[in-house]
Amino acid sequence: MAEGKHIVVTGGAGFIGSHLVERLLADGEKVVVIDDCSTGSLENLAPVRENTSLRIFQTKISACGELGTILEEAKGIYHLAAAVGVELVLKQPIQTIQTNLHETEVILEEASRWRVPVLLASTSEVYGKSQKEAFSEDDDLLIGPPHLSRWSYACSKLMDEFLALAFAKERGLPVIIARLFNTVGPRQTGRYGMVLPRFIEAAKAGKALQVYGDGQQTRCFCYVDDTVEALVRLMNCTAAQGQVFNVGTDEEVSIRELAKLVIQTLGSTSEIENLSYEEVCGKGFEDMRKRKPVLAKLQRVTCFTPTTSLERIIQITGPKTSSPVT
Ligand SMILES: NC(=O)c1ccc[n+]([C@@H]2O[C@H](COP(=O)([O-])OP(=O)(O)OC[C@H]3O[C@@H](n4cnc5c(N)ncnc54)[C@H](O)[C@@H]3O)[C@@H](O)[C@H]2O)c1
Repeated sequence: MAEGKHIVVTGGAGFIGSHLVERLLADGEKVVVIDDCSTGSLENLAPVRENTSLRIFQTKISACGELGTILEEAKGIYHLAAAVGVELVLKQPIQTIQTNLHETEVILEEASRWRVPVLLASTSEVYGKSQKEAFSEDDDLLIGPPHLSRWSYACSKLMDEFLALAFAKERGLPVIIARLFNTVGPRQTGRYGMVLPRFIEAAKAGKALQVYGDGQQTRCFCYVDDTVEALVRLMNCTAAQGQVFNVGTDEEVSIRELAKLVIQTLGSTSEIENLSYEEVCGKGFEDMRKRKPVLAKLQRVTCFTPTTSLERIIQITGPKTSSPVT
């Protein structure tokens, strides 16, 4: 990263952003958070609120009057702010598309004025419906049709990737794209359909854990501190600039096995209940059977390997999750 005064984290009051902010402060960095607290919360930053190296701007990026000054004095920008979560995307498709396209454009435009490196948080959703065993960064992407709102999240994030790489090519902006696979840990909220916090809250409340579909679909869950480690390493690596990286773990678990593991690890008496996708997400909802990353590129460039087991993640996350299940 170029010399400068502070690091900017958009979406820094969110789940991943707040862990990243804690990490950067612990590294001795000065940090500026820009977050409108639409899905995030200042509560997430409670452990570091008194830290004099942290400044928080509670505003939409596009409405932040000080944005130019903040970025002029920045040595790096982690752009995590986005409309996130399948349920949110289904309920508020206009807001999802507008937020994910417009706010990223504003950040890239302003960052390019000062040539501040930008790490863009993208998503494994961009791989779409591809049936591959594991996804590599150069794979073709297979996105569903526009009458199914769920694909608007993937498409908007994909356009962010195109735009970031276009700024890199045309304006020489240093950009790094991190395609995050499922990230989990304390402070993740179940309100927007995230599976692990939903399961943990239900298990703690003695309610049924609701598994959608047959539960044989698999996912790979990476602990948030591991994800943050990968993001920091990518940002600090000039060889990563101008490129796309998968970030996550390649340890697979089925959603049914996950439900069982949560019940067992937390010593819960809850049962598992199967619901059809149609009941939960409406007609025509498409879910992927697998979503597993190939991590060779990330490992080659950053030497990063996630280290936290799923059982350990549940143990750490279980007692600390406090969000309501909706
Ligand atoms: N959690 C995951 O498993 C996962 C997986 C793939 C990608 N991602 C990506 O990682 C990033 C962070 O996700 P998260 O899970 O921490 O979600 P989150 O909802 O907790 O964080 C997003 C943050 O952005 C803020 N925000 C939204 N719109 C904003 C705007 N216009 N201006 C300023 N702030 C705004 C929200 O208030 C929130 O704090 C997102 O870009 C998301 O797409 C996350």
